[in-house]
Amino acid sequence: MKILTAYFSHSGENYFSGKILNVKKGNTAIVAEKIARLTGCDLFEIKREKEYPVSYKDCVRESREELAADARPLLARNVDVNGYDVVILGYPNWCGTMPMPVFTFLESADFSGKKIFPLCTNEGSGLAKSVSDVLRLCPDAQVMPGLSIKGSNADVCDDILRKWLEDNGLL
Ligand SMILES: Cc1cc2nc3c(=O)[nH]c(=O)nc-3n(C[C@H](O)[C@H](O)[C@H](O)COP(=O)(O)O)c2cc1C
Repeated sequence: MKILTAYFSHSGENYFSGKILNVKKGNTAIVAEKIARLTGCDLFEIKREKEYPVSYKDCVRESREELAADARPLLARNVDVNGYDVVILGYPNWCGTMPMPVFTFLESADFSGKKIFPLCTNEGSGLAKSVSDVLRLCPDAQVMPGLSIKGSNADVCDDILRKWLEDNGLL
């Protein structure tokens, strides 16, 4: 079984326990790298061609505009998903669903017959609408049980991550 972990993550300003911090590595990137260490899977970072602002306020404004416009922003690079049986799809919850570059990613390849495992880091809203959006964008994929991780616990999520991977036959 060949596994790809494809993830989007934003470095720069974000909220941690009510405080804005400027981080070099985003929460989802931390979790994706843990998955790669545990499973030996390949990693692909989904990146918008034009980087999002470092400023939290500006990033929220831009993400809201893209969501309202149902935008499909261009990506900085692509990956060939042929040959992978499983795609672990990591992303932060942005305004109740995935960041729009993840929509672009899901529409840019053929996921039919593949298993997609949604993995969403967030500050309390959980997976929200993201799973129904994955189902809508990839109707021929098998969308598997998702995992919600509190973003500010990304460093210490090893136990729930390992359990989810084991429960789903990925470890
Ligand atoms: C633009 C933006 C929108 C967000 N919207 C939500 C939200 O609706 N619900 C929520 O629980 N967290 C929200 N968050 C918090 C992130 O989902 C959370 O901090 C996540 O772990 C960030 O992952 P990252 O560092 O990999 O980008 C938002 C953060 C940003 C920057």
